[in-house]
This record gives sequence, structure tokens and C-alpha cells, in this order.
Amino acid sequence: MSQQEPDPTQQLRIKWDQRYADAEKVARPAEVLLSNAHLLPEQGSALDLACGLGGNALFLAQRGFTVEAWDLSSVAIQRLVQAAGQLKLNNLHARVRDVEGQPPQTEQFDVIVVSYFLERSLIPTLIQALKPGGLVFYQTFTRQAVSSEGPQNPAFRLADQELLQLFSQLQVCVYREEGRLGDLSLGSRDVAMLVAQK
Ligand SMILES: C[S@@+](CC[C@H](N)C(=O)[O-])C[C@H]1O[C@@H](n2cnc3c(N)ncnc32)[C@H](O)[C@@H]1O
Repeated sequence: MSQQEPDPTQQLRIKWDQRYADAEKVARPAEVLLSNAHLLPEQGSALDLACGLGGNALFLAQRGFTVEAWDLSSVAIQRLVQAAGQLKLNNLHARVRDVEGQPPQTEQFDVIVVSYFLERSLIPTLIQALKPGGLVFYQTFTRQAVSSEGPQNPAFRLADQELLQLFSQLQVCVYREEGRLGDLSLGSRDVAMLVAQK
């Protein structure tokens, strides 16, 4: 009997499980969230989509939000559950979930954070999943870059100004994309960041 190849989602899961098994990887909130945290509402429901080790989720839960953190990798989710337990964050709910197969529901969240995950077809659903007045914080790699960090496949990186197009239905509060302007040893390079309100 021939062994079946794992399907593409299963292959992705295996890849990310292997990466998160590396104990040196640590959870960090994205700069777009850290440097714009003053824009957050005082409380509410938040989603860290494709959360990995959940740096954004931990940050939001520590600020008192009721947080959902979803990722395909069970290794990442186990590590996040453990971190939340150590910090006694009962308001953080980390779940293994394929966000393409099971996206969020309409008007479910006050805040959605996405860092370093780009599935363009999901953006309209994310916009729908924000409550009226809700905020999205988004940060991921751009094609114009200074370092060689991030995915090599340009399809997984943003074109110039692309986040602005993807979220053009929303009111943009913050946008940053430095490209290769000026002193390349300084600044927030390789990424675009957006905060926008529904
Ligand atoms: C580059 S990591 C970013 C993780 C985290 N957001 C961060 O900033 O550190 C991309 C994440 O997307 C997750 N992922 C990829 N496809 C997914 C899917 N369909 N559903 C849920 N998570 C997915 C991976 O498991 C991985 O944790």
C-alpha cells in the first residue's frame, strides 16, 4: 500500500510545528501594536490571527482584553497556553484553528491583530469580523526590503502600498512603509504597518 502525501495544510502545520519546537523562539508583540497601543480601546474582545507564540495575544491579554489566539500549529498553541497559565491570564483563549477553513464571524471583535501572515483572500472577512468602530493592526514583510529576512517568495510579501489598498474600506489611522529611503541602517525596515478603523 502506498503512503499518502500529507495535504498542503497538513504540510504547513508540520513545517510550523518544527519551527516552534525550537525553544529559542520567543513571543514578541509586533511593533505596529507596541508603538500604537495608545490607540486601543480601554477594553473589549481581540483576535491575534495566525498568532504563532502569541506575542500580540499576551500583550493584549495583559491589558485586560478578552483575547482569542488562533494558529494552525499545535506546538505554538501549547506553548502559548503554558505562557498564559504562568502569567495567570484566564482571559486568553488559545486554539488550534485553520483560519482559512474557520475564519472569524461577522462583527466578532473590537481589535484584530495580524503580524507576519498574509492571506489576501481573508482580508474582506477580517474587515467583516470587526465590530463597527473596531481596529485592525497589521504588519508584515514588503517586497522592497533592506535585509534578507522573511519569505523569499514575493507572493508572500506586500507590494508597494498594498496594505492601503487591501484595507481601503477602512479609515486609516497609521501607515508606515519606509522602503529603501534614506539611511538604511535606521528605521522600521522590511515591513509595512497599518492601523485602521471600521
Ligand atoms: C510567520 S508566523 C507569524 C506568527 C505570529 N503572528 C508572529 O508575528 O510571530 C506565521 C504563522 O501563521 C500560521 N498559519 C499559517 N497558515 C495558517 C492557517 N491557515 N491558519 C492558522 N494559522 C496559520 C503558522 O502556523 C505560523 O504560526
